Order: sequence, then structure tokens, then C-alpha cells
Amino acid sequence: MRSNSINVQQLQKTLQAKLVEARDELPAHTSLLLLQHVLNLPKTYLLAHGEYQPSPEEIVTLQNCLDQYLQGFPLPYILGHWEFFGRDFKVAPGVLIPRPETELLVEKALAFVRQIKHPKIVDVGTGSGVIAISLAAELPDAALIATDISKAALAIAQENARQHLNQPIPFILTDLILPFRTHFDLICANLPYIPSSTLDTLPVSRREPRLALDGGQDGLQIIRQLLAQAQTRISISGKILLEIESGLGQETLRCARQAFPTAACILIQDLAGKDRIVDIQLP
Ligand SMILES: C[S@@+](CC[C@H](N)C(=O)[O-])C[C@H]1O[C@@H](n2cnc3c(N)ncnc32)[C@H](O)[C@@H]1O
Repeated sequence: MRSNSINVQQLQKTLQAKLVEARDELPAHTSLLLLQHVLNLPKTYLLAHGEYQPSPEEIVTLQNCLDQYLQGFPLPYILGHWEFFGRDFKVAPGVLIPRPETELLVEKALAFVRQIKHPKIVDVGTGSGVIAISLAAELPDAALIATDISKAALAIAQENARQHLNQPIPFILTDLILPFRTHFDLICANLPYIPSSTLDTLPVSRREPRLALDGGQDGLQIIRQLLAQAQTRISISGKILLEIESGLGQETLRCARQAFPTAACILIQDLAGKDRIVDIQLP
């Protein structure tokens, strides 16, 4: 990119052309996000002021960001934030990038706990905190706890909670829900669920933390551990909601029924029609 007196409109065209050449799925959107990020200006301003001239330093930074992106570094890590359930969350290479599919879990969780007074909720494997914080923001009377085995993830979750919530949430560094003696009304989790050997073949394994993705030999190792721990930590008429690997729906359902033989266990599909959640409703 030339730096002498190039304006925003010309820059966006250049960026977009490079993204089209690299077969980016959303070149117009991506180029605007990169411009917003580097110039620290709102989209509306950029669109209305095509004549604005970025500094030579900003153009160099933009070129660096574009290079990183074209080399496969995820856009949310470059931007340092990503949207989830209508809020903007900080993200960094230590945490999973929140996925839109996970919003379905938040919707199902809200629909269930809205019927309960002062519900006790735990979000297991909270990562950037998106599930716990989205729930806490919508449920001022809930008692919420979030756990993760990654210190780096919890540090980011805490920053996100400070940004979005008036009341702090306890973020606890632990293996699943082992230390708790509470009976939760809702246990929800988006735990690692990709089988180790499959993960090795996926580019995501080089881009996002393995700790957030690797579900062990059959993808269900951590989910099975949680189900075992949940047996003594779920309340009467409580619910467990687990995000799952779409190809493992029936397997995960079998595990759920084994751990909770008297519960109503069902699979819930996402907008693409893929198995996405196991819903375990205790009697
Ligand atoms: C798939 S990520 C989900 C992050 C976040 N909940 C989301 O939906 O974006 C799984 C998270 O579980 C955490 N994790 C993995 N094993 C765990 C364990 N044994 N106990 C607690 N958390 C664990 C990982 O560190 C990671 O943050």
C-alpha cells in the first residue's frame, strides 16, 4: 500500500481488492473492520468521510494486520474483540473465539432459568466468559459462578465481566465443578469436544488453544467427567445444557442417559439443522 496522501476510500478499495484476490468470504466487511481497528474510528465515520487521510504509521500498521490475516491469524485476535449475544467481548490467543452457535445455548439457558427465583448457575469452561456474562447481564437475581482450567482464559473473562457487569462473578480456576458442594439449578458448558485425532487435521488446532478444543480420544472425555461430577451437584428439577460436536449427538446423548437414567435427555439442533446441544432435564 502506498502511503503518500492516500485517503480512506482508496485504502478500502486496495484492501478489498487484496482480500478478493485471497478469496476472503466477506472482503468488504473484513476491510472495514481492519480500517476501524487501525484508525480507531467508527464505521459510520469511515463511510461518510472517504477523504480522511490516515497517517503513514497507520498505513504501515494496516499493512501488518492485513499480512497477519492473510497468513491465517484469526481476525478476532487481530481486532482484540468479537461480538457475542449483542455484546462486544475482549478476546486474545489464550481463549477460544466465541462462536455464533453458542448463542443457542444462552437462549436455552435463559428460557429455563427465567422460571426460577434466584437460580444457581454454573458456566463450566467459561473461556472469555461469554456464556456466564451474557446470562448474568440478563438475570440480575441469579447466583452465577464460572470456572475454567486456564488462568489466561479467566483473566480475560474477568476483564470482560468488569466491562459488562455491575456485580462481579466468581471466576474459579478449577477442574470442571469438582470443588463445589452446591446443588445448581443449571449447569451449562461449552467444553472441548473435538476428538484429538480429528483436531490434529484441522487448521483451528494451530490457531486457537488446544486446551479449548481437545475432547480426548473420542471427543467426549471431558463431557463424561462433567456428567459424573454433575450427578451430585445438580438440584431436583435442574437442567444441564451442553454444547456438543454435531457429529457426536447420539454418542453424547447415550452418555447423558447413562449418567442420568431418570432425566429427559434430548438433542437440540442449531439453525443449520445440526445437533448442537444436549439438554438434560432432571425430574
Ligand atoms: C470450547 S472452549 C469454550 C469457551 C467459552 N465457554 C465459549 O463458549 O466461547 C472450552 C473451555 O473449557 C476450558 N476447559 C478445558 N478443560 C477444562 C476442565 N477440565 N475444567 C474447566 N475448564 C476446562 C478451556 O480452557 C476452554 O476455555
